[in-house]
Amino acid sequence: MDTGGKATVLIVDDEEALRKVLRKKLLAEGYRCLEAGNAEQALEQLRNNKIDLVTLDVKMPGKSGHELLSEIRAAYPDTAVIMVTAVIETSTAIECMKNGAQDYLCKPFNLDEVILSVNRALEIKRLELEVKKYQQQLEQRVKEQTEEIRKIFLGAIEALIFALEAKDKYTAGHSRAVNKIAMDIGSQLGLSGDELEDLHWGSLLHDVGKIAVDPAIQNKPGKLTPEEYRHVMVHAQIGPRIVSPVVNDKIVEIISHHHDHYDGNGHEQTVSGEEIPLGARILAVADAFDAMTSNRPYRSGMPVSEAKEEIKRYSGSQFDPVVVSAFLEISDTALAEKKRD
Ligand SMILES: [Fe+2]
Repeated sequence: MDTGGKATVLIVDDEEALRKVLRKKLLAEGYRCLEAGNAEQALEQLRNNKIDLVTLDVKMPGKSGHELLSEIRAAYPDTAVIMVTAVIETSTAIECMKNGAQDYLCKPFNLDEVILSVNRALEIKRLELEVKKYQQQLEQRVKEQTEEIRKIFLGAIEALIFALEAKDKYTAGHSRAVNKIAMDIGSQLGLSGDELEDLHWGSLLHDVGKIAVDPAIQNKPGKLTPEEYRHVMVHAQIGPRIVSPVVNDKIVEIISHHHDHYDGNGHEQTVSGEEIPLGARILAVADAFDAMTSNRPYRSGMPVSEAKEEIKRYSGSQFDPVVVSAFLEISDTALAEKKRD
């Protein structure tokens, strides 16, 4: 918007003679001018032109200036409005100013006063727009910095997980392998970009709660006692608490439910079937596959083909059949690759 005489002014008034007088004066001051004899014409002009300021007659046949003001404020918030009224309608004009008009002029008006008012209204609007732009830039910067901090924090948690896993050669690379397999299943199932992003973080961070698990119990050769099992399973409750300040609720839910069984028979689970978040159902398959095919101190990892058969066997009970079908689409070679690199 340029207040130096290049702005476009729309004169809305049902009196043609008045429009002519105003137009002549505004043109002489260097403004571009458009005219409208009623509200419909005014809206048409607003639709087709970039208008900086409207001088708006309050009393017009058909839709009043008062009503038109609300529409302009809603659809063209960057356009300044000056109400034009007869002296006796001053209270209406004041009401209009409360509703967002920048100024009002009483008929018959002094043309120099009109120009002063137009210049002032355009200057106020220019400042308003500058403040708005500054606010938007500021909001954008805050948003970018928040995202930056979030990434740094998530990166730190990720590094913590890798460090935890690296302490033990049997679990090293587990989260990364689970992440790769889960992402492949997610793509097979046609998940959206946002869903894949949630799955990415959910799968990478799913075992962060293991920080609270006793390594002696976690790596115990052979079957865990019920008490030991309960202790290990606490990680699915602690993990969400660790990451919830920096990740969205969907990621938290994926981590919370990653040990849920599809048929509802898992450890202390509260939901079953489709109520388990899809990301968690995917993660359950990827997690189980990686666990079965990894070496443990007390046993060697299962061959890929055998682990696939095992997953198939639990389709519909422990695992979601739809997720299992998508998982089985991934070739043995591709699965073996994901575990290696
Ligand atoms: Fe887990």
